[in-house]
Amino acid sequence: MGNAKKRPARRKPWSSEAVLDKPGALVDDGLFRNSVISPLRYPGAKRQLVPVIELLINANIPPPRLLLEPFCGGATTTLRLLGSGVVEHGILADVDPLIAAFWRTAAFDSRWLIDAMHEESITVARWDWWRAANPRGRRERALKCLFLNRTTFSGILHGRAGPIGGRTQKSEYKIDCRFGLKGLTRRIEGVADLASTGRLLDVWQADWRKALQDLRSKFGILEPGEVVVYLDPPYVEKAPWLYEWSFESTEHAELAAALTSEAWYGWLLSYDDNSTIRHLYSGRPGEAVLHIPHRYTAAGSVTRKVRDELLVTNLPTIPPSDRYRLLGPPEESDQSY
Ligand SMILES: C[S@@+](CC[C@H](N)C(=O)[O-])C[C@H]1O[C@@H](n2cnc3c(N)ncnc32)[C@H](O)[C@@H]1O
Repeated sequence: MGNAKKRPARRKPWSSEAVLDKPGALVDDGLFRNSVISPLRYPGAKRQLVPVIELLINANIPPPRLLLEPFCGGATTTLRLLGSGVVEHGILADVDPLIAAFWRTAAFDSRWLIDAMHEESITVARWDWWRAANPRGRRERALKCLFLNRTTFSGILHGRAGPIGGRTQKSEYKIDCRFGLKGLTRRIEGVADLASTGRLLDVWQADWRKALQDLRSKFGILEPGEVVVYLDPPYVEKAPWLYEWSFESTEHAELAAALTSEAWYGWLLSYDDNSTIRHLYSGRPGEAVLHIPHRYTAAGSVTRKVRDELLVTNLPTIPPSDRYRLLGPPEESDQSY
């Protein structure tokens, strides 16, 4: 990627009306064909669900003008759907101030972030410094997020997880093994490219309730069929260890209640397969629960494991696919399965 091809980075989020415009062509669309496109490593990233989400969106409302991801974390889903043009525009939101600051800075202040990242020394002493730091400004929060995400075990930002390679750095994998500057620069520039072309419109630091309210107040100009929301909330079981902001047990039920009464938009919701979630979403009219087996090889293992996931949606058309099994068909739907 020569500098000559780059368009000037956009410095501000777009106004809501920009959702009505067609996005421009990407400078580096090859990036979005790579398997890894997010600058953040994220516990629970649902990379393997993206083809299913894409299939369902294409079968229902092609192409939605707007996608909101209110639990964005590493944001792989939104980045990929914006990069491929399956959705035209997107908004990222997360309650974690570090995560929100990171995406806002990568989108609208990328030059600063890339330069600051190159200045960092990737050492355990610096890791201790960032871990203790409590930055108030957006830029420093963004840099803290990036540094800790790329140097901490499993990308965990908060809590007790230590630096990659341990404090003594005697392991084969050292603290800087996930801090490849070239790859990170390209991926941050990819986020900025999504913002400059009018695909990524804005980043909100918000609780999911506020994000869903703001969707209504800021994008009421859109028809229901033009809006889709992808939700990937914290896990039911492991979340308190992984995220600073995890869910109280009642919050999963609150989200389920909000998705019935407020669903003027199409939505897709993903969870690890879990009896609490099966129970919450079973037999609800106008919704489908899909069971998705995900095969993967764990680090250091030669055997393939299966982790099952659930995707719940109010999108009416569920095309046949060998990627999933339908657990609960919509009761009031004119579709045949
Ligand atoms: C399972 S992770 C999302 C992972 C993401 N889908 C990915 O691919 O990287 C859940 C995210 O929800 C955020 N979160 C937790 N509680 C929240 C809340 N009340 N409102 C909004 N976001 C919340 C966490 O900060 C975390 O980033």
